[in-house]
Amino acid sequence: MTNLKIGVFGCGNMGRALVLGMKAQFPAADFFLFTPSKLKAQELAVTVGGKSLDQSVDMPRDLDWYLLAFKPQSLNEFQFNFAPDSKIISILAGVKTSKLIAKFNSKKIARLMPNTPSALGQGANLLFLNSHFNQIEELEINSLLSATGKLFPMKTEEDLDLTTAFSGSGPALIFELARIFEFELNRMTNGRVPAKEIVSQTFFGSAALMNSPLNLGTSFEELRSQVTSKKGVTFEALEILKNKNIQEIFSKAFEAAYNRTIELSK
Ligand SMILES: NC(=O)c1ccc[n+]([C@@H]2O[C@H](COP(=O)([O-])OP(=O)(O)OC[C@H]3O[C@@H](n4cnc5c(N)ncnc54)[C@H](OP(=O)(O)O)[C@@H]3O)[C@@H](O)[C@H]2O)c1
Repeated sequence: MTNLKIGVFGCGNMGRALVLGMKAQFPAADFFLFTPSKLKAQELAVTVGGKSLDQSVDMPRDLDWYLLAFKPQSLNEFQFNFAPDSKIISILAGVKTSKLIAKFNSKKIARLMPNTPSALGQGANLLFLNSHFNQIEELEINSLLSATGKLFPMKTEEDLDLTTAFSGSGPALIFELARIFEFELNRMTNGRVPAKEIVSQTFFGSAALMNSPLNLGTSFEELRSQVTSKKGVTFEALEILKNKNIQEIFSKAFEAAYNRTIELSK
């Protein structure tokens, strides 16, 4: 396992984050990196001591794992003749394993849906393996990806697509909430307090409380109730959210994200 050879197509935000995580887990792994404009592959190759390739066809065909880390829209133009037993990990949002099997020779396709905290080893990463992997390969991929965060096995591709709006898109939704907190705090204090730091620490501390072993059996609703006394300060704020039906707004947002996932899969 220590001298794994990994081929990577696409070294943007996610590709880079995953390669750094894998390198942290397997310092002796060899990386072969390709991006059409070369620069990102070259930079990442320097960081992880890997090899950048000028063309996708230069990628060796006998590597242990291949990572597809480009946009789903780039799939049509992507060309590589995989060996029949190549093990492929795709992070292309919404793209079904059946579509990838039809395009490539190999049937061994894993779908990974990471999120950007993977770059810090804090990803909430979803993994679907089709039935063509054996147990050893399953252990290998779990170990390979474990440095990028928590790995959540998905039994079906539908579950992976449904959950993508929450984990893959989740950080962006949380950053939007953080932006609103910061904007409002600045507005109400005329910028007199360090709003960004206060908001970051509030989100960080709240996530730590949610993850604390002390709160394992505590629901999010209970955590909320613990800081909400009837007719108190927090209660007033929550009443406004309730009256504006914030739950329905989020419900529509998650459904829209899922619908887009389905569109991208076509
Ligand atoms: N960002 C997220 O939070 C997130 C979360 C979960 C999943 N994803 C998935 O991750 C994938 C990549 O997203 P990203 O945010 O990392 O995108 P990105 O930063 O735009 O990076 C895309 C990379 O793909 C490369 N590329 C383009 N066409 C290619 C081709 N034909 N062959 C090989 N490489 C090609 C680009 O090369 P150049 O450098 O030459 O342009 C670039 O390095 C997407 O499928 C997305 O659905 C993203």
